[in-house]
Amino acid sequence: MCGIVGIISTQSVTKRILTSLKRLEYRGYDSAGISAIKNRKIERCRAAGKLSNLEQALVKQPISGSIGIGHTRWATHGVPSIENAHPHVSGQVAVVHNGIIENYQQLKEELANDGVTMQTETDTEVVAHLANAYLQAGMQPKEMMQALLSKIQGAFALLIMMAQHPDTLLAARKYSPLAIAYGDDEMFLGSDALALAHLSRKISYFEDGDWAIITKDEAKIFNLKNEIVERPSKITDASNKTPDKGKYAHYMEKEINEQPEVIGYTFASYCSPTTGKITLPKFKFCPSELPKLTIVAAGTSFYAGMVAKYWFENLARIPTEVDIASEFRYRNPVLIKNGAALFISQSGESLDTLMAQRYAKENGQNIISLVNVPESTIARESDTVLKTLAGPEISVASTKAFTTQLVTLLTMAVHWGELRGVLSDREAKKITDNLANLPSLLARVLSDDLDWIGASSELALSQDVIYLGRGVNFPIALEGALKLKEISYIHAEGYAAGEMKHGPIALLERGVPVVMVAPHDEWFEKTSSNLKEALARGARVVLLSDDKGIEKLHEAATWIFRMPRVHPILTPILYSLPVQLLAYHTAKEKGTEIDQPRNLAKSVTVE
Ligand code: M6R
Repeated sequence: MCGIVGIISTQSVTKRILTSLKRLEYRGYDSAGISAIKNRKIERCRAAGKLSNLEQALVKQPISGSIGIGHTRWATHGVPSIENAHPHVSGQVAVVHNGIIENYQQLKEELANDGVTMQTETDTEVVAHLANAYLQAGMQPKEMMQALLSKIQGAFALLIMMAQHPDTLLAARKYSPLAIAYGDDEMFLGSDALALAHLSRKISYFEDGDWAIITKDEAKIFNLKNEIVERPSKITDASNKTPDKGKYAHYMEKEINEQPEVIGYTFASYCSPTTGKITLPKFKFCPSELPKLTIVAAGTSFYAGMVAKYWFENLARIPTEVDIASEFRYRNPVLIKNGAALFISQSGESLDTLMAQRYAKENGQNIISLVNVPESTIARESDTVLKTLAGPEISVASTKAFTTQLVTLLTMAVHWGELRGVLSDREAKKITDNLANLPSLLARVLSDDLDWIGASSELALSQDVIYLGRGVNFPIALEGALKLKEISYIHAEGYAAGEMKHGPIALLERGVPVVMVAPHDEWFEKTSSNLKEALARGARVVLLSDDKGIEKLHEAATWIFRMPRVHPILTPILYSLPVQLLAYHTAKEKGTEIDQPRNLAKSVTVE
């Protein structure tokens, strides 16, 4: 999703803006641009495609100045092109924006009536024209911002630069994230701490409705009511190191391989691997009396929530509902008084999830979040925060964030199961012992000489791939299909294995690959019947199973991936690995852009 950066300093800013934009690349984008003010004139350089194109453009058309703004654009309104790339300029104003100006059509009409001609297809351009018109009409920057913010509707993180006021940068936030970092004689603004941590580690976050007038020496922050406010600063935990792929070809490959380690860290942060004693952060309610748990998330994090529903219901007997974040608040959900709502998000910034969280808070729920970015908006607005210790996840396709979410959710379900008297100490210890041993099993799968490339080179030739799983592994079938779609662009669908015969089986014809997530668990016999049904219709089966399952089904499968035997409750974590590896190798075989797939953004900050 769009990333924004701004610097006001006494030194040249262009190179540093470019470095910050590189640190925001992981969010996903399709064009980029930078503006700076020199001699009270706005200079601008933009390019479609990757930042390397912008870098080349800057060589031909260098720009410099001690105040500047930069942007990576993920297209919403208007195709990815140089014209639509930010910054947008009107007269003496340059603007970068993350979000959507929802009333832009109406504003465009008003501006057209005043004789303004639009140069782009974007919603953002109206902001530049309005700001410029207000300044032309004689307003000072503060007055102009107040007029502008009362006019525009929607979601935004905005940075505005004015040629006639080269010592002032303006900023505003509504829904889309924005942070400020404090330097010596300079100030830095950016979409997140990662964009800023290499410039200064002292960071404050804007709250919704905040806007600011920033000079190199100070930031005056105002709230929605235009009152001056203080936003506490903290020393960010975000790394100031520029992420790198190490020995791996892609971030996704690196992150898949980091899983044994980060799962170990995450688990150890909640449970002593020796005693099995689980310590969770404090909740505002008593888990043993909780009437209902509502889990809300998007994409892969939603699938983690689906797995967790099995765990919370089975291990802790808590009535649990799971909702897609973008649907939740629009269906008027029944939220029980004193219930708890758990929001799962790698980035902690997905706007759908954040808006659902605010809705749940307004409706009296105790808010828990499970995030990988502890300084994120979702974390900051929660009553209790659980952290995954996955480290920065750069690849757009989520891998290690997902499995660390699962480990945390299972640990939580086991603990609540004990508190609610559903699990005995011995039963709980059995699961935590298995969890402690999981990193070594994952490491074994990663080091085993399994023929991922053989199966993937066939999957790469397919039009459609079906993923099937049952029970606690049904969401892993969904996650496997999502991973394949995201990075290889092959049409893939995940189904509950037993649901196949109720419709999707019509898709099967000779040669269609069916990936079966089939550990030898309590549902295995039924899953194997579903596999036979697919086989009878000419499907070619990729079997993910263990010794016992493979013994029974080896003749039915074209490709077999042998997983270590593990406690059945843990299988979704272990079986995430083969579905990730299949997707990764298939995309590699196809030569698609694995870490930044087309059309996708890492942090989705629009609804
Ligand atoms: O940061 P979040 O966990 O809130 O993101 C939610 C989804 O956008 C995310 O999981 C998305 O589906 C990933 N690209 C999956 O690989």
